[in-house]
Amino acid sequence: MSSSWLVCLLALLVGVVALTQGLPLLEDLDEKSVPGGRIVGGYVTDIAQVPYQISLRYKGITTPENPYRHRCGGSIFNETTIVTAAHCIIGTVASQFKVVAGSNWRTGSDGVITNVKQIVMHEEYFSGAAYNNDIAILFVDPPLPLNNFTIKAIKLASEPPLEGTVSKISGWGTTSSAGSASNQLLAVDVPIVSNELCDQDYEDFGDETYRITSAMLCAGKRGVGGADACQGDSGGPLVVRDELHGVVSWGNKCALPNYPGVYANVAYLRPWIDAVLAGL
Ligand code: ARG
Repeated sequence: MSSSWLVCLLALLVGVVALTQGLPLLEDLDEKSVPGGRIVGGYVTDIAQVPYQISLRYKGITTPENPYRHRCGGSIFNETTIVTAAHCIIGTVASQFKVVAGSNWRTGSDGVITNVKQIVMHEEYFSGAAYNNDIAILFVDPPLPLNNFTIKAIKLASEPPLEGTVSKISGWGTTSSAGSASNQLLAVDVPIVSNELCDQDYEDFGDETYRITSAMLCAGKRGVGGADACQGDSGGPLVVRDELHGVVSWGNKCALPNYPGVYANVAYLRPWIDAVLAGL
């Protein structure tokens, strides 16, 4: 009697933990889906399908004996320029990073490895709202050997995407802050959510600084959930029709039905990006 009560209590506890951790509750039966997968609800992809994706590897200043470890994603704009998130690089110096292009793996040393020479973070990052203007540009040297196959630049969007358009996000992130990271590159397809609806969704989240601004973009399966970016995907690409529209930025947990993923809005941030690229 008392032991069956214990079992019930345990099951309830596991359920509550699963919910609060935002674990994927729906798993589609697609052969390529990854049970408990990383990018949440995603599928295994190949770098040749997302050749603009890079892995940003990082080493702590006080732990020089450690290897460079995956910290964030990023996108190749041209052979010397990477677009990533401000929160990936804030409080760091360029020499703490390596950029790995053309690889399917989060760890390991295949693909092409280059150095970060200069970091330019958006000057208005976190001003006006939490995670506002979450974008940064990295200049790398030596230049990446673009090969039109596994290492390729992506165009930047100049117009925001239409609500409902399906976008593709990719990365080596986890299913939850507590989850383990994927060693293999994953992707997932998620529809764009309007800023208005997204702002309503986040109404009761965090303090009043957590607003959806025009410098942000949202994507997710509203009312359904189960498909999203997650920890470790930050800085990585949200792509619509071969153009970079978003940079993975933040969200309430991952893949919750009523909280879309939030991205830096590339089209909106274009004037800033263009100014940095022009060396202004
Ligand atoms: N901030 C996270 C990172 O540093 C990314 C969070 C994205 N979350 C989401 N639910 N889409 O990797």
